[in-house]
Parts: sequence; structure tokens; C-alpha cells
Amino acid sequence: MSIRQFQAQRMHAPRDFQCIENNPICVEIGAGKGKHALLFSEQHPELKLIAIERTREKYIAMQKQHQLEGQTNLTPIHADALPWVVHALYPNQVQQFFILYPNPEPHNPAQRWLNMPFFEFLLSRLSPNGSITLASNIPEYIAEAEQQLKDVWKLPYEKQTIASDSARTHFEIKYLERGELCQQLIIAKPEHYQTRFDKVGPRQGKSVENLSEPSDAN
Ligand SMILES: C[S@@+](CC[C@H](N)C(=O)[O-])C[C@H]1O[C@@H](n2cnc3c(N)ncnc32)[C@H](O)[C@@H]1O
Repeated sequence: MSIRQFQAQRMHAPRDFQCIENNPICVEIGAGKGKHALLFSEQHPELKLIAIERTREKYIAMQKQHQLEGQTNLTPIHADALPWVVHALYPNQVQQFFILYPNPEPHNPAQRWLNMPFFEFLLSRLSPNGSITLASNIPEYIAEAEQQLKDVWKLPYEKQTIASDSARTHFEIKYLERGELCQQLIIAKPEHYQTRFDKVGPRQGKSVENLSEPSDAN
């Protein structure tokens, strides 16, 4: 792999961090106001979904709507997904990740999800045969992600065109109304896929200091 190794030990725990149990879950990253999270958890009562959103107002909107609808299998989280994933998730725990219409980061290509060293850590949390759904209205974003999947991550995927009447997220509705082409990649993790983080457990709120070996007292 030609991408530098993600420095998981540098991630401080998110504020008010709470550990989760090691049960199978689905995770949505950048869930916005939670339209997809609410729909998905209603349509899949047998699956548990954690929906992470960094922007406070959007998280509050998701939380309010969740209180109205009351899906017991949905947990909205207000956090930056990177430290939250490092501190909370176990290797091979996640059945499905959703990253729907991520910020395109036009001036910061290194911040796009498949260009980040963090993506390897994310892959380590995905269960064998699990999937990542990555949607975008920007053809170049999809094309770059496809190239990364071939060159760096060596992962199989399927590219799909989103139907013009799809309405899973607020951004999807806006883009389709404008007549834009929306596409998604369904990325699969093969059974024996390996990453450098497969044996790294969740940090569970521990700080870097707590992780260091005690020094010899002499
Ligand atoms: C363009 S919006 C799309 C929102 C929603 N998925 C939709 O399609 O309507 C991207 C969202 O990702 C969130 N986001 C970006 N980076 C994030 C991160 N590291 N952790 C959590 N949320 C993040 C932003 O706050 C923003 O709400």
C-alpha cells in the first residue's frame, strides 16, 4: 500500500465519549439532518444504525426528528467521525458504512475519504463481506474514488446510478431536482482482506498517556 499509515494513537476521544458493545452495527458518517438514518432504521428494524454528524445544528435536527419518530435501533452521535471510529469501533464490527454526499473538498483533495490514511482504519472496522456505500453528485469525485479503489485499496466495487426519484437525503433531493447525475459506489470487503489495524482494538476514551508503557522504576 503506497499510502502512509494512519496515526490512530494521535486521536483524542470525542467530548462526552461513550463506549459501545462489540455487536454488529451499521454506521453512517456525515449523516446531516438524519433523513437517510431515520428511513434506514425504520426500514431495517433488525439492524442497528449509528449516525454520526459533526455539525451541531444538523445533529440537533436529526436528534429532534428521532425523538418524534422513536426508532429504537438508531443512535445519533454528535462527533467528528475520525476520533469516534478510533475510540468506539472494534475490528470487523461494521456490517455497512454509509457516506452519502460527503463534502467534495475542492481545495483539499487529501481530505476526501478514500484519499485519507484513515480509510485503512475504516476498512479494518468493516466485517468480511461488509460494504461501504459512497454517494456523490460529482462525477470526478466518483472517478477519483474508483481509481483509489483500484490502485491503493485493491477492493471490488459496483458503480450505480441513483434513480431520479430517489430521496434518501436532503442533499440527494436537492441535486436530483437540479437534474444532476448522482452516483454511488458499493464497495465490498472480501473475506480475507487485511489491513495494518486488524488487531487494534477500540481506544475506548483512553488518552495517549494511558497507553504508554510504565517506565522502569530504578
Ligand atoms: C454535504 S453534507 C451531506 C449530508 C447528508 N449525508 C446528506 O446527504 O444530506 C456532508 C456532511 O458531512 C458532515 N461531515 C463532514 N466531515 C465529517 C466528519 N469527519 N465527521 C462527521 N461528520 C462529518 C458535515 O458536517 C455535513 O453535514
